[in-house]
Amino acid sequence: MFTWRVSKQSIFDEIQSLFETAKAKEYLGEDITLIEHMVQCGDLAKLNRAPDWLVVAALLHDLGHILIPDAQEAQDAGSDRHHDEVGASWLAQRFPSNVVQAVKLHVDAKKYLVATNPEYFEKLSDSSKKTLGIQGGAFSAKECEEFLRQDFANEAIQLRIWDDAAKVRGMSDATLDRFRHEIQKVASQG
Ligand SMILES: [Fe+2]
Repeated sequence: MFTWRVSKQSIFDEIQSLFETAKAKEYLGEDITLIEHMVQCGDLAKLNRAPDWLVVAALLHDLGHILIPDAQEAQDAGSDRHHDEVGASWLAQRFPSNVVQAVKLHVDAKKYLVATNPEYFEKLSDSSKKTLGIQGGAFSAKECEEFLRQDFANEAIQLRIWDDAAKVRGMSDATLDRFRHEIQKVASQG
């Protein structure tokens, strides 16, 4: 069966244009913009010497928020637009399954961490506490088990920890260029 895929060379440009369109987009009630948050998450992955594919997943984990035009309004109205799944579907046309899976699981990783680590919830930002309810709340014991059985669940948990930390104003500029190498390299593995 023929599967349509975007050419490797254009993937970086495509992501850069998407980032450009979202430059001024708020990050759902946080102090920094969405792009600053995403770049900061990628920086944290690099800082922690994550493999290139996980750096790319960290950088692009909230792509769904860019792709969903009314994400902010939806959240304010108490509705979940499933940005994890929207982002993962877009990435599935361009990147290997490890990137797709880590992005797809990053909200479930939060539900897992809330269920298994009592201190984790307290450390979440107010906005993230609010979205937890909209996203369905903490996992049950059975859901935690099912979550851990999935491929790349542990990497999604790691990504989630960087995600929660990547909310510091002024820590990262919103430049995508320093990720060009990782994006092109990992896209070519897809
Ligand atoms: Fe995020």
